Amino acid sequence: MQTSFDMFIETEVPEDELIVSRTDFSGKITYVNETFAEISGYKPEELIGKPHNVIRHPDMPKSAFAEMWATLKRGEIWEGYVKNMRKDGGYYWVFAHMSTVIKEGKPVEYKSVREPVSREKKIEMQNLYDTLRSEEEGTTRAVLYVKNEKLPAAEALEA
Ligand SMILES: Cc1cc2nc3c(=O)[nH]c(=O)nc-3n(C[C@H](O)[C@H](O)[C@H](O)COP(=O)(O)O)c2cc1C
Repeated sequence: MQTSFDMFIETEVPEDELIVSRTDFSGKITYVNETFAEISGYKPEELIGKPHNVIRHPDMPKSAFAEMWATLKRGEIWEGYVKNMRKDGGYYWVFAHMSTVIKEGKPVEYKSVREPVSREKKIEMQNLYDTLRSEEEGTTRAVLYVKNEKLPAAEALEA
């Protein structure tokens, strides 16, 4: 269980830069640009070769990715809102455009190019994804304030 305060800290995606990554057909990362590395808090060499779900945020519903993969596998473009988790546990929102890279008429990889999301849209998507996750997985995110003397032991929270 994530108990760190870092997970509530948002990193803003700059307006004038694109966050780019490419994967093989199984979703393993083959390329990231400098901006991707910077925003996600990883070094490029820590990401290359890893499955793209290294930055998956627990708030993302399974159905969003299922729809994304089905669309890509049909050879179509998928566009959608994604909340990602940084290496330090923080998060950032992007609007992603994902598609197949074609070279000499053949599909060779997938790529994703991402841009920033407005505050209003982040709120709308957080609510939608909270609802979907609750329906699909039966989980609800909760933040609690409890009296110090009633705090469970740290070991209990880690379980
Ligand atoms: C080109 C491309 C880019 C992707 N970018 C992300 C991303 O930024 N964040 C993310 O959580 N998943 C991304 N994915 C989807 C992941 O591969 C994975 O399906 C997702 O994180 C769900 O993880 P899971 O399948 O282990 O549940 C991307 C996939 C592709 C093909």
